[in-house]
Amino acid sequence: MAHASETFYVTTPIYYVNDKPHLGHVYTTMVADVVARYHRLRGDDTFFLTGVDEHAAKVSDKAAEHGLTPQQWADQNATAFRETFDKLEMTHDDFVRTSSEHHKQRVTQYIAALLNTGDVYPGTYEGWYDAGQEEYIPENKAKANDFKSEVNGKALVRKSEKNYFFKLSAYRDTLLEHFEANPTFVQPDARRNEIVNRIKEAQDVPISRTGSGGWGIPVPGDEEQTIYVWIDALFNYLTYVDTDDRRHYWQSGAVHFIAKDILWFHAAIWPAMLLALSKCDGYAWVNLPRQVYSHSYWVSASGEKMSKSLGNFLDPAAIDNYVNEFGLDALRYFLATRGPLGTTDSQFSSDLFADVYNSDLANTFGNSASRVTKMIGKYFDGKLPQTSDRYGANVPPEGEPALDPATAQAGASALIKSMTRISLEPGGIAGMFVVNQVDSYIEGTSPFKLAKDPAKLPEVGDILYNCAEALRIASVLLWPFIPDACEAFWKRIGCDYAEQMKANGGKGRLDEWVEWGQLEPGAPIEKGAPLFPRYQA
Ligand code: MSP
Repeated sequence: MAHASETFYVTTPIYYVNDKPHLGHVYTTMVADVVARYHRLRGDDTFFLTGVDEHAAKVSDKAAEHGLTPQQWADQNATAFRETFDKLEMTHDDFVRTSSEHHKQRVTQYIAALLNTGDVYPGTYEGWYDAGQEEYIPENKAKANDFKSEVNGKALVRKSEKNYFFKLSAYRDTLLEHFEANPTFVQPDARRNEIVNRIKEAQDVPISRTGSGGWGIPVPGDEEQTIYVWIDALFNYLTYVDTDDRRHYWQSGAVHFIAKDILWFHAAIWPAMLLALSKCDGYAWVNLPRQVYSHSYWVSASGEKMSKSLGNFLDPAAIDNYVNEFGLDALRYFLATRGPLGTTDSQFSSDLFADVYNSDLANTFGNSASRVTKMIGKYFDGKLPQTSDRYGANVPPEGEPALDPATAQAGASALIKSMTRISLEPGGIAGMFVVNQVDSYIEGTSPFKLAKDPAKLPEVGDILYNCAEALRIASVLLWPFIPDACEAFWKRIGCDYAEQMKANGGKGRLDEWVEWGQLEPGAPIEKGAPLFPRYQA
């Protein structure tokens, strides 16, 4: 049965523009892109948002080092992020810049509304501050970590300043109830408990600062204070869809992809701010996100988190090298299926990359596609063979290896099940499973041997028809992961799915496309260059 179209909203963190993008940023955006593409393929009305976070002190500090204004520096790096994501064919529907007028205006409205209800109020902050993360650290947490930053190990600084505060403590119970009623609100499961325990003791949080030199959004009614960069940034998820034509995306329940370093902001402060906002006049439509998915880190061979400040990152030039050597699909496939989506960090190793490329792409989909199209070229003059009556509804007789509608259904169900749980490794494997079935079927039926006897050509035709059909279905399932190769393959077998999606606002028809028997016998099948040439070091 066809899947009823849903609305789906997916976001990434907005990245600091103190420097250029690196592999960590590319990773989260790529994961969100695979998920967004999957939803579009299913026909969902999908909105995918990524972008940059500009009003950080580390941005204005870096700008000063380079003799530029913060805006000039932010402009340069925002362009670098945009170009990197465009080059990597990310399909975001908009790109956030927190210095945009729309964003600033909306944030000002939200804070004004919260000042009105008293959920934001003036006070004084006295405590620890992680300058690198621009994060206030509660006393117990600072102590537990020897007064050092959990992220970069630098000493925390003592701060005392006049601030506006957000009444986080007033939302403890509602947050805890929300966690209780929505067990998948924070994923993976293991990340939940640390947040729940911290919420139980949550105090009000400062949400403004002084001395930002005018870089940031002023607190409405108090120009000396700037809205704390984290609050400004979190609101991006809402500001960019707070327009008449986009509000329904927010209301469908956002899925936020982030890494574990910023979970507290997303799983506690952010939902509490939304609860507070929803009580303000005109904001009753504001609901909570569906899920905060907090992945782990890419780490270097020595186990350190890849980051700009540690200098062990894969920068845009290194990323380009991988794309040039292996192709963009290979990078997507590797990051999506071998990345740190779960609770353990992943090491980025070029050897592993090459192994995965050869085993999962060159030796499976790439190889199977050339084998099948080559045999169709050789035995049937490049035309998809007619299926005979022998197989009836393409179900092979007892005892012969199967490649049939059930194979396709198994692959499609595995993809849907995995993607619903945001398990990208089994999601990628779902398509590869169908390809593997094609390979075993070829081994079991040996069309290349049968073809030596002209009387057996109809049988060879049945076999190759089934192979082409199964590969077509596999390519639909694999599209979110390796879109370029799948689209190239579609052209070769005469499927216009890419055009259909384009004409239909990016939406596909996964359920229909995975139904068996859609390739027309007689259609030209092109061999073409290998989709994934084998890599030899
Ligand atoms: N600007 C804030 C986020 C505000 S969101 C409302 C920020 N920016 S950041 O530039 O530091 O990006 C952090 C994010 O980049 C992480 O949450 C993660 O998504 C990604 N990654 C950065 N380094 C990473 C790794 N080494 N590994 C995996 N992801 C990483 O925090």
